[in-house]
Amino acid sequence: MNENGGRTPLIAGNWKMNLDHLQAVAFVQKLHWTLKDAKHEADSVEVGLFPPFTDLRTVQTLLDADKIPFELGAQDLSAHDSGAYTGEVSGAFLAKLACRYVIIGHSERRAYHDETDEVVAAKVAAAHKHGLVPVICVGETAEDLEAHGSSAVPVAQLTAALAGVAAGAEVVVAYEPVWAIGSGQAATPDQAQDVAAKLRAVVREAIGDEAAARTRVLYGGSVKSSNIAGFMREPDVDGALVGGASLVPEEFAAIIRYQNHVGV
Ligand code: PGA
Repeated sequence: MNENGGRTPLIAGNWKMNLDHLQAVAFVQKLHWTLKDAKHEADSVEVGLFPPFTDLRTVQTLLDADKIPFELGAQDLSAHDSGAYTGEVSGAFLAKLACRYVIIGHSERRAYHDETDEVVAAKVAAAHKHGLVPVICVGETAEDLEAHGSSAVPVAQLTAALAGVAAGAEVVVAYEPVWAIGSGQAATPDQAQDVAAKLRAVVREAIGDEAAARTRVLYGGSVKSSNIAGFMREPDVDGALVGGASLVPEEFAAIIRYQNHVGV
């Protein structure tokens, strides 16, 4: 727990299209040992891993067999339950693999697969239908930032994504400025806080006060062990969605252990 309204922080590793299932085993074991060696307290921070689909069964089996306290998530799901949708993966299948989370609307899906706000909303509904918690990604491009400032686009995207969500439902929101993803140029903690507070207000309006108080709002975009503590000090930032730095066990472990960093 941290001081952020009692919300347990979530540090989520989005592997994107990296690490095959054999590499995943080595990675998960190394991360687990590194945290154990550091005597990391597992219940102080929730750790979420988001491997490629082809790794999920293997990682699930390892977490289960070795009682490793990480949560599993997928990087996307189909809006449909089953049927003639070649190449798509149903939320029902993810639920069977003990996935707790699924990332929806990542900027790479929006940009390379033309995922619109309507598609994102349909996928959020599919996640809830199958008992998965959607990690809804929103964020402005560099052009949006110039034209509209930092919050207008993420607020509009989240409003659309939550339009059909039932009051009190569980969601995670990830604020990921597109210009910060993979660029080495993270937002400032102040900017992340400003947008995170506005996104929490959207959650409050859409699904209620209690849900808004419980919802974790993550920051993502060039998060590293050297900048995580600054984000985590902000009252509305409850964790991070980490891409590149989640692929190196020592570095990801250091991000998870942000509470131990000097100066926190
Ligand atoms: P990054 O990616 O940490 O490599 O910037 C974040 C993300 O895309 O989720």
